[in-house]
Amino acid sequence: MQCSLVVLLRYPPSPLQPACTMAPRGTYLAAAALLLPLLGPVAAVNVSVPSSAPSGAQTLSPTLVSFSIEQDRWPDWVGTDSPNDFTTNALLNYADLTGTPPDIRVGANSEDKTVWSPSVTINEDEFPPPNTITPFPEATHITVGDGYYQLSRFLPRGTRMTWGVNFGADNVTNAVNMAKSIVKAFTTAAVIESGVVLERIEIGNEADLYSNNGLRPSNYSVNAYVPDWISVAGPVAEAAGITTNTGSVTLQGASFANQGFTPREIFSLGILDSAPGKGISVISQHHYSGFFCQGGNFPLVSFLSKAAVRGNLSIFNADIAATHAQGLTYILGETNSIACHGAPGVSNTAGIALWVVDYTLQAATLGIKQAFFHEGIGFKYNFLQPISLNRSITDGSALDPPQPPHVQPAYYAGILINTFIGASGAAQLVELSVDDANVSGYAAFEGGLLARAVFVNLESWLTTSTGARPSVRIDFAGRMGSARARRLVIQHADDTANVTFAGQSFETPNDPRPAGAVVSEMVELSAGLDLRATEAVLVEFL
Ligand SMILES: *[C@@H]1O[C@H](CO)[C@@H](O)[C@H](O)[C@H]1NC(C)=O
Ligand SMILES: *[C@@H]1O[C@H](CO)[C@@H](O)[C@H](O)[C@H]1NC(C)=O
Ligand SMILES: *[C@@H]1O[C@H](CO)[C@@H](O)[C@H](O)[C@H]1NC(C)=O
Ligand SMILES: *[C@@H]1O[C@H](CO)[C@@H](O)[C@H](O)[C@H]1NC(C)=O
Ligand SMILES: *[C@@H]1O[C@H](CO)[C@@H](O)[C@H](O)[C@H]1NC(C)=O
Ligand SMILES: *[C@@H]1O[C@H](CO)[C@@H](O)[C@H](O)[C@H]1NC(C)=O
Ligand SMILES: *[C@@H]1O[C@H](CO)[C@@H](O)[C@H](O)[C@H]1NC(C)=O
Repeated sequence: MQCSLVVLLRYPPSPLQPACTMAPRGTYLAAAALLLPLLGPVAAVNVSVPSSAPSGAQTLSPTLVSFSIEQDRWPDWVGTDSPNDFTTNALLNYADLTGTPPDIRVGANSEDKTVWSPSVTINEDEFPPPNTITPFPEATHITVGDGYYQLSRFLPRGTRMTWGVNFGADNVTNAVNMAKSIVKAFTTAAVIESGVVLERIEIGNEADLYSNNGLRPSNYSVNAYVPDWISVAGPVAEAAGITTNTGSVTLQGASFANQGFTPREIFSLGILDSAPGKGISVISQHHYSGFFCQGGNFPLVSFLSKAAVRGNLSIFNADIAATHAQGLTYILGETNSIACHGAPGVSNTAGIALWVVDYTLQAATLGIKQAFFHEGIGFKYNFLQPISLNRSITDGSALDPPQPPHVQPAYYAGILINTFIGASGAAQLVELSVDDANVSGYAAFEGGLLARAVFVNLESWLTTSTGARPSVRIDFAGRMGSARARRLVIQHADDTANVTFAGQSFETPNDPRPAGAVVSEMVELSAGLDLRATEAVLVEFL
């Protein structure tokens, strides 16, 4: 029962809030009429949902939705004197659904700008001025001390972490200093007591970009990368006591930005035979579906595309296969919609929640174990803004009064996905064949038997749309019986708030805990289910 998990994991809930996201059955509201006013034109698709898991079904990780945090403002995310309660509660909402809090990787660009110093307590950062394209720029220099890594104790109990080490500076002394400080943090009584564990160390972020960003000569190639990485990772692995990829702490390999360098290339160059290479347990690649580094105009309607999601992820198939052939795990160790902190009107919209659902579940069907969604402070694509902001995330204009901590629409995708994953730790998924250019579907199996499905209708319903909102009738191809449906309801794809899942809002300022009664519908499968444009539904087969 999810409710008992809630009680075990959550900090004492406020008396005004329900104690769990799953209200007892008797309190569900029959709400089909409430949710589906003014249905427009209805197309129909016949979807065959298998009763048992087909061969090739992939296991769903309880931490499929995980987070990557930009290293410069990690203390703001997690808290410096005490846990950031907003972050804690937002992560616990996810943990309540799968039984495990999201994994946290701290690193990214700032991983290669960080220096450890014995004379710094937590961190000292230098930031460039903001501008309209980048209202929350990353620090150019970050100096950290031991206390910085010990903030790990403020994450929810059971969180597994990956910490980044600076390879960009090509300074073995500094890289080893960082690794020692990381390992030391996880041996302190406070971190041990917190139940937060160090799982992996990543040495270098996106080294395939080093030839462009000045961290290496312009002729830096993958052939140069492998011995270069070994020369720094070797001493780091030794300092961290990493000798195999089966120990409690291992190395995360690759972490490439685009496909400038590939896992296949570094395998064939022998990286896994080197001493530090023997410590690599996980291969990470990064992916964004566009770039906002110099600004630009990204139409939301074309972004919410089933074909584009598949086109963006299928490029990894050969690397996934090569990684699995080595017996290693494959992840997207840093990802999100649009690089350089997201694009306004896309990354921060309600519609992007549907994109996150389709993108993440599509990734899982390809054998990608986890997707670490990249987050900073004030980034447009954040799932949550965990501290109050006094500048607009879209153009940097002053916000007076400041906007309190809040979740952004993408956050709801994690709620829906984690509900789909469930708490067994052993659910499997397949993609369903849905003959509609805008509708995708996935099924989850427990003990090999059909348990749940998700359908996503990516067709854009915008604030400028007129007429009746279109919808697609999902027919279940002769399947009988009943199901319970819970909807991800969005008013307009281009809204930046006002989303609900199963009738609940997570948008109370300063408090990400669910508000409102759980709303679900009973569905007779023989009658099918209508899914509006810009909507997703979780179906639980009874
Ligand atoms: C390498 O790092 C160490 C420790 O931070 C520092 O003392 C040294 O100056 C650095 N070397 C170079 C070449 O920057
Ligand atoms: C790359 O350029 C550097 C000079 O910046 C040079 O010393 C080195 O030999 C070049 N390496 C290759 C493989 O061409
Ligand atoms: C990736 O997604 C973007 C945004 O939707 C799209 O413009 C691009 O064509 C996609 N790439 C591929 C290879 O499908
Ligand atoms: C926002 O707060 C920071 C730190 O308190 C301050 O330096 C900055 O001037 C403020 N910006 C605005 C637009 O008020
Ligand atoms: C898919 O959605 C787009 C708008 O988002 C719409 O223009 C197109 O007609 C839809 N296609 C189908 C097959 O419904
Ligand atoms: C839907 O699929 C079922 C089973 O495959 C079939 O019997 C039925 O005729 C199909 N309905 C339509 C409208 O295609
Ligand atoms: C949320 O909904 C309310 C009421 O419909 C509306 O006034 C507000 O503008 C919406 N907010 C956003 C950000 O879309």
